Amino acid sequence: MAKRIKVGAPEITRLLHVAASPRGATSESLKIARAFLDSYRETHPGNAIETWDLWDGSLPAFGPAAATAKMAVFAGDALQADETAAWQAAQTTFMRFDSADHLLFSVPMWNAGIPYILKQLIDVISQPGMVFGVDPYNGYTHLLEGRGKKAAVIYTSAVWGPGLGASFGTNFQSTYFEDWLRWTGITDISQIRYHPTLTGITDDERRKAHAIARERARDF
Ligand SMILES: Cc1cc2nc3c(=O)[nH]c(=O)nc-3n(C[C@H](O)[C@H](O)[C@H](O)COP(=O)(O)O)c2cc1C
Repeated sequence: MAKRIKVGAPEITRLLHVAASPRGATSESLKIARAFLDSYRETHPGNAIETWDLWDGSLPAFGPAAATAKMAVFAGDALQADETAAWQAAQTTFMRFDSADHLLFSVPMWNAGIPYILKQLIDVISQPGMVFGVDPYNGYTHLLEGRGKKAAVIYTSAVWGPGLGASFGTNFQSTYFEDWLRWTGITDISQIRYHPTLTGITDDERRKAHAIARERARDF
């Protein structure tokens, strides 16, 4: 659960880009992320940068064995072999996530929410003793709190946009995702938005989003 890695001295700050769009070169959120990362690289030359493409097959499933393991951990029960393996996979995934000081997320809107692959990451790593603690009287504690972590989140959509009526959909994308970030204890969050809607003014909106991404990266 190291906050920073040591490569000799001094310590290196790590930025992890968690990429949730599968659309490669055509992805708007990944293009904005590239603008952010180019600017970040220029302005933070000593920092390590890694991109985690959530679609690359590295995420473990969170199915029957993992869900049973989670409830057994809550109950203090022993784990069967397949449950131990599922729990270890969750721990390894969490450690990769937790090794970052700075987090950049690229998050397209999918059916008003987030892509299921990002929800899969959330379901794999949101475990007692990793992301949260809980007690019956005070509720949750946020285990990533006070660790100097911060997040920038790129939100894209094509139909929904801020200020449009309910007939354009409802935003469960940033509301859900930022509720989760705050639950982990990551509360320093900045947003970069690209919501051209169906108006056809995509070029202007794209230029603005890329400029904001470059600026946010400089000050990150
Ligand atoms: C599976 C899927 C579901 C989508 N659902 C919505 C939606 O509910 N509302 C919306 O405004 N756009 C929706 N879109 C459009 C994307 O949010 C939009 O094209 C966005 O730019 C995609 O990000 P990307 O280019 O980084 O992949 C959806 C796209 C896909 C592929």
